[in-house]
Amino acid sequence: MNFKKNPKTKFKSIDKLSKKEAKEQIEALRRGIEYHNYLYYVKNQPEISDSAYDRLFHRLYQLEDKFPEFDSSNSPTRRIGAKPVSELKKRKHASSMLSLNAALKEKEVKDFCDFVSRNTKSKEIVYMLEPKFDGLSVEIVYEKGKFKYGLTRGDGVTGEDISHNLKTIKSVPLRLRDKKDLSAYLSVRGEVFMSKKGFQKMNKVRIENNESPFANPRNAAAGLMRQLDSKKVADKPFRIFFYEILKIKDGRISAHQEMLEKIYRWGLRTNPENKKCSSFDKIKEYHNNMEKNRDNLDYDIDGIVIKVNNYAKRKQLGMRERSPRWALAWKFPPRKEVTKLNDIVVQVGRTGMLTPVALLEPVEVGGVTISRATLHNEEEVNKKGLSKGDTVKIIRAGDVIPEVAEKLGGSKEKKKKFSMPENCPSCGKAVYKEGAYYFCSNGLKCPAQLKGHLIHYASREAMNIEGLGDQTLKELVNRGMVRDVADLYKLKAEDFKKLEGFAEKSAKQAEEAIQKTKKVKLDRFLYALGIRHVGLHIARVLTREFRDLDSLRDANTEDFEKVNEIGPEIAKSLKKFFKQRDNRRVLDKLKKSGLQLKKMSEKKSTKLSGKTFVFTGELDDFTRNEAKEAVETLGGKASSSVSSNTDYVVVGENPGSKLNAAKKHKVKILDERGFKKIIGG
Ligand code: IVH
Repeated sequence: MNFKKNPKTKFKSIDKLSKKEAKEQIEALRRGIEYHNYLYYVKNQPEISDSAYDRLFHRLYQLEDKFPEFDSSNSPTRRIGAKPVSELKKRKHASSMLSLNAALKEKEVKDFCDFVSRNTKSKEIVYMLEPKFDGLSVEIVYEKGKFKYGLTRGDGVTGEDISHNLKTIKSVPLRLRDKKDLSAYLSVRGEVFMSKKGFQKMNKVRIENNESPFANPRNAAAGLMRQLDSKKVADKPFRIFFYEILKIKDGRISAHQEMLEKIYRWGLRTNPENKKCSSFDKIKEYHNNMEKNRDNLDYDIDGIVIKVNNYAKRKQLGMRERSPRWALAWKFPPRKEVTKLNDIVVQVGRTGMLTPVALLEPVEVGGVTISRATLHNEEEVNKKGLSKGDTVKIIRAGDVIPEVAEKLGGSKEKKKKFSMPENCPSCGKAVYKEGAYYFCSNGLKCPAQLKGHLIHYASREAMNIEGLGDQTLKELVNRGMVRDVADLYKLKAEDFKKLEGFAEKSAKQAEEAIQKTKKVKLDRFLYALGIRHVGLHIARVLTREFRDLDSLRDANTEDFEKVNEIGPEIAKSLKKFFKQRDNRRVLDKLKKSGLQLKKMSEKKSTKLSGKTFVFTGELDDFTRNEAKEAVETLGGKASSSVSSNTDYVVVGENPGSKLNAAKKHKVKILDERGFKKIIGG
């Protein structure tokens, strides 16, 4: 039985299996699934479709359920859903997890190269160059090729056991490959990180759900990897690159490059940018190229690491207290700038949350002009001791979000501590505190909340009202022309003509754009309502279970909780929303204005019938399954391999070999935008 190459995914009934057969099938499925994880997450070359993978996984789940005696903590089904651990246990590292000496200047790097040559008495030294990942350093131990445990770096000698979270990362193998060559004991070191794209998506969801966003991918990795409940980690886009062996039994490895090749064969993901070289000039070239190229990588790096390749030479060079003499980190100059803090204002978001924002003298940091930066909350402002007029240092943390790093100077006189206003700066109503955050108590009667709410309602993922920009929506609120989302549907071209920037034609278009959205899918509409904790995914989950808006309106907290993925917090938030009189009134108003909510089409459309799609790489707005579902709902077919019968290959981020296959077969290639156009938005 083998589920690796062209696996069969039709199975005989579980009841008909003998214990022996079940055991064999469980084993084979575990190996097969891990093999396909490896192809997908390490090699980036999947060979089976997502649905075939899902069927294998489901079968294994069923078998393990029926035959608990064959349970194994290293089953791929155990990657997700293990019970939360009660604490993070401390454990010693196989050998010290050293740090790196860091250099910023060219001269320091030249000195390092001279030092290496002098102390090894060799003119030509071979170096391995690697990106310096800005993530979380971890140790993972494999015994007899099986994942045993994984630790954070901790103080370098002792770390914390985060096995439960590491096992959720699909590029962390649960079993190693290539048995012939495998050591009975292997401890490897690598860096866990979150992709920049995945990080931004995750933060967007956190903000939607009223959770505070992480400042950068490194903080997210450090924070989430230490969670006790691995369910909070399993759905996050974590990945790993391995770069050193900490300890190995019977390993006859004599150089770093050989080691990297070996661990890659064992299924441990290494970085494709790693490069061998043997002169300072080449090191400099690599450093410059990586710095120029860093924004094109989907993970944060903050420099390069220069390592002596040959292990015998490493031994000759030896160690310092905490770092090896055979390696050096050459960091990139930080992306920071100094500017003036013109003011601190308080902004009210659509959920009513009050956020202090720094208004800055505009300054360019790493090619982007920055004039505002969030200060998160009151505590943060006071911790940094900020006040109007200060000179401050701005960094682009994680190279994504601008942040006020620290105060450099300001007037000496003692200024009052910053405190959040007692009344909402937008509507003047009372403010209340929840944890470290403050909220306006006036709901959608607060103009700032209403503006945020309307902007969300009209946004692309929600009702997708084209051509109705943020400024227009704000003006509509300021002029008192719109008091809730239902008022949008009453607007006529005449009304728009009163607003700035509208002429005859554009006013007509705005009216039509709004009217056009009267027919909308229930899930989009639910999301558009901006209910706390209800993002697009949860909205979809709800529409699968509830027929229409009325059944959602009438449901109890318990009815919501019965739905898979809906926990008590979401259920409570839904009930609260649908119970509120103002919300019910707006929903009635919307119904009267002719809003027609469609369930996900049950009757299959034929728009794409006869058309076959193949997907490669990651899409922004769809998971692989969602993209396939979209094609299939419209009567098309999704396939896993490209042939001359394929009509379209949809290419996302980091495409695999299917892109080349598409070119070979002269199949039409679509990017995500093109794909959306074809499926109709
Ligand atoms: S090797 C003995 N290689 O940088 C050598 N470290 O400041 C140990 N890091 O804590 C480290 N990318 O987390 C090595 N390619 C790379 C790295 C790397 C990032 C981190 C590592 C370490 C920190 C040292």
